[in-house]
Amino acid sequence: MNLHEPVMLPEVLQHLAVAPDKTYVDATFGAGGYSRAILQAADCKLIGMDRDPRAEGLAQQMVQIFGDRFSFVPACFSALDQHIVTPVDGVVFDIGVSSMQLDDPARGFSFQKDGPLDMRMSQSGPSAADLVNTLEEFDLADLIWRYGEERASRRIAAAIVRRRDEAPFARTLDLADVVKGAVGHGGKTHPATRTFQALRIAVNDELGELRQGLEAAEAILKPGGRLVVVTFHSLEDRLVKRFMAARGGKRRGVSRHQPLPEDRLPDPSFEVITRRTVLPTDAELAVNPRARSAKLRAAARTEAPAWARMTEGV
Ligand SMILES: C[S@@+](CC[C@H](N)C(=O)[O-])C[C@H]1O[C@@H](n2cnc3c(N)ncnc32)[C@H](O)[C@@H]1O
Repeated sequence: MNLHEPVMLPEVLQHLAVAPDKTYVDATFGAGGYSRAILQAADCKLIGMDRDPRAEGLAQQMVQIFGDRFSFVPACFSALDQHIVTPVDGVVFDIGVSSMQLDDPARGFSFQKDGPLDMRMSQSGPSAADLVNTLEEFDLADLIWRYGEERASRRIAAAIVRRRDEAPFARTLDLADVVKGAVGHGGKTHPATRTFQALRIAVNDELGELRQGLEAAEAILKPGGRLVVVTFHSLEDRLVKRFMAARGGKRRGVSRHQPLPEDRLPDPSFEVITRRTVLPTDAELAVNPRARSAKLRAAARTEAPAWARMTEGV
């Protein structure tokens, strides 16, 4: 049994166009599922990256198997181009949490298992408990609305603030119960799903990381190099779609905040390969329910210079 069942692996290998003598970056190493498969698919080199200190132990095992074909950078992928300066042939992102993180109650990601209300992938900085215990009610509601797309965000924020005045939140199930009390039952998913998603995104600045990670990948990819991104919810997919559309020369994808010299777009830095999102096959869904919401998009780097790194809102 894998620690984390890699999602859409054949599609990732295909879109990365894995070939001998090339160098790839697996920006979300996790349990190393993609990394291992890439290194087995061709006599290439691979640099793994992960912000979770627990990924390092698994990375050590990879060094023993693959020797100097594999190396590991323990860092956030927003800093990809600070750690990797030699141009590469492909970068893959598998966004979100790993099963190892989700299934370990001590990491505090799950609303179904009791654990500390943590959710920090890097195990540093403010935790989910810090957010729910300190944010103003308005900001909490905004966060749950924006990152959780939760319609009952105000009701939930009010219930959280009421409860924390009596006792601050420390445990996952405690928060899940309060959210359940505020939302009630009825839907197909657990009532705390969207609130937990929102907190996770905020604690780990997931959208900011993704935006900067894509820009960093743009900076280090060789012409012809592939960018492959697997996402798991609409906020992430929208961001990737707009990034690729804009860099692929579609004005529609360009942020209103992107300063354009004389209203002229820079030359496209990517050619979009996946005109539509690639989805998991029925066969994969039958064996791995966590692939359910996965979407893959891919693009090839052009010869054009990387765009200015100012993608607020893209
Ligand atoms: C879905 S898992 C990747 C699983 C991997 N593809 C596999 O097959 O084992 C996502 C991983 O990305 C890491 N991660 C998420 N955001 C990150 C970031 N901004 N920088 C570096 N690593 C990040 C998480 O810690 C987690 O280990």
